Amino acid sequence: MSAIKFFTGEEIPLEMHKVRIVQKLNLPTVERRLEAITEAGNNTFLLNNADIFLDMLTDSGVNAMSDNQLASMMQADDSYAGSATFTRLADKLKEIFGKKHFLPAHQGRACENILASGLVKPGDVVPMNFHFTTVKAHITRCGGRVEEVVSDEGLVTTSDNLFKGNTDLKKLRKVIEENGAEKIPFFRLEAGTNLIGGQPFSLQNMRDIRALLDEFGIMLVLDASLLQDNLFFIKTREEQCKDMTIREITRAIADMSDIIYFSARKLGSARGGGIVFNDDKIKEQLQELVPMFEGFLTYGGMSVREMEAIAVGLEETMDMDMISQGPLFIEYMVNELQKHGVPVVTPAGGLGCHLNAMEFLPHIPQSEYPAGALAAAMYIAGGVRGMERGTLSEQREADGSERFAEMELLRLAMPRRVFTLSQVKYAIDRIVWLHENRELVGGLRFVEEPKTLRFFFGRLAPVSDWQEKLVAKFRADFGESL
Ligand SMILES: Cc1ncc(COP(=O)(O)O)c(C=O)c1O
Repeated sequence: MSAIKFFTGEEIPLEMHKVRIVQKLNLPTVERRLEAITEAGNNTFLLNNADIFLDMLTDSGVNAMSDNQLASMMQADDSYAGSATFTRLADKLKEIFGKKHFLPAHQGRACENILASGLVKPGDVVPMNFHFTTVKAHITRCGGRVEEVVSDEGLVTTSDNLFKGNTDLKKLRKVIEENGAEKIPFFRLEAGTNLIGGQPFSLQNMRDIRALLDEFGIMLVLDASLLQDNLFFIKTREEQCKDMTIREITRAIADMSDIIYFSARKLGSARGGGIVFNDDKIKEQLQELVPMFEGFLTYGGMSVREMEAIAVGLEETMDMDMISQGPLFIEYMVNELQKHGVPVVTPAGGLGCHLNAMEFLPHIPQSEYPAGALAAAMYIAGGVRGMERGTLSEQREADGSERFAEMELLRLAMPRRVFTLSQVKYAIDRIVWLHENRELVGGLRFVEEPKTLRFFFGRLAPVSDWQEKLVAKFRADFGESL
């Protein structure tokens, strides 16, 4: 994808696929957008799809599927036990990752439930480059504690460090020495680190982690949900890996992992999940949890159609044309926004483009949720739905005080092969307009605040009439345009 030069010198990512099935979109008027976000309690999770033009909430389960994936679904073998579909998926996983056991589960967090329930005891400590919400919830539910050991650079929003998802070896050694290896059931390494802007780890960093863990006999568990982006970045950013194929990089990563789990809502562009490993003892520990929580061992809560699509999707993940589309579109978006002075997380990562709400809206205190306010404003400005990744997504402390997030981000996810470049240009245009008019945007306050997972169900209201003012400015600037 990146190797194609334009005669005019223009630098744009060129799609290496064609669109053969389409879904009609609706762009409501700005007045309707204000109504819709008010009905949704200023929470983008509560918007209806019918009111959304570009859904950039997530890539989870909404990546475009290929013709071959759809075709494979027709040959799914529907049986409770021993289906041929399961064997096809298990064989594909074995071929790609080289692990002999495969436990299926219905999505990524279900794998995390099984791993935490089977391996984490009260008082245990699980170090990881960075947490993901669902894995942290499962580890703490089982009485364990998460310790983050990402490099300091990982938390710097604007940086030229190409591997911000790297683990700081000194921090990791300290956690092991302070707690004792016997308290550490495993180290978790997240590919394409989600919550810090889809940032990758390098293969060299993984080698160093492996060597350190070997000193203490600690297992390495890889969260491969966002592996496809991480593979692309290793291939394109790590000098020593540029001559390796994607398949070779994948196998090098897999060989250093004791256990690999993944959300197939991301990896493999379908819907499902799984855990792969070699150790027979681990199989004994985890296997019984699958029929208990998920379904029989040959489907694990997944539809056989999805399992067929995952097998094909995994094979397609080995193709640079396929896995480069997301990162290159995101890079384009990040570069264009930077040209217009919009604060974004750099370097461009996988998963999506992340706006830095703390800098975008410096006049909004964290107590009034700047990233949440930016998400509501972005929807009003363009019918574009993003996801708040800041204080709203945190839980309050036990004493009821706010836990202010280290970063206030609005994530605009780029589901793979879903949007065209003109749609991305439209999103950029509306973000630039919003940035020009940022003083108009005000904060939010809770009107209904659930105790847990408040970012999913909570309802908020604007602290003033800033949203009406934003709509009026939109009309003044755009006239009759939607
Ligand atoms: C890195 C990572 N791990 C785990 C999960 C959980 O996967 P799922 O949404 O399929 O439960 C996600 C989902 O976004 C993720 O990004």
